[in-house]
Amino acid sequence: MEFVVTLNMEIVRIVQSIIEGERDVIANLANTSAVLWEHMPRLNWVGFYIVRQVRKIDATYFDQLVLGPFQGKPACIRINIGRGVCGAAAASKQTIVVPNVDEFADHIVCDGNSKSEIVTPIIVNDKVVAVLDIDSPELDRFSESDAQMVRSVAELLAKGCAW
Ligand code: SME
Repeated sequence: MEFVVTLNMEIVRIVQSIIEGERDVIANLANTSAVLWEHMPRLNWVGFYIVRQVRKIDATYFDQLVLGPFQGKPACIRINIGRGVCGAAAASKQTIVVPNVDEFADHIVCDGNSKSEIVTPIIVNDKVVAVLDIDSPELDRFSESDAQMVRSVAELLAKGCAW
């Protein structure tokens, strides 16, 4: 457990140093997904969904989560706010830990290997601009320490990018 806490503090430091001096959203999300993929053991997917405004036929707009930089297998491209774990995290503005995805009724299956996941929103001026989604092939993979780490990473990205 102590090892996990130390590793997680180290991951936050690496993300901080890798995004320092750069405010481009795509570049920072891409490098952050690579850092998490490299340093967090037992993952099968890590990446971002970015909130985009989608134009409807009547020329009104609605917010939708659209696939951003990630590591792992190709994934679902669009997720409505409120749908799946990602959409629930965006709607509630809360970090959501799912120990067993089969027990989360609305889970959206992208990679059938995913058994547990954690999703945290990135919030700028009280508005969700993206979510960070991390999936594991192991049941109950994500601890409270992991939840704290992803929240810290989300805060760094909220402040460190030109959203
Ligand atoms: N599991 C997510 C969908 C995204 S993929 O896992 C990459 C969800 O239910 O929101």
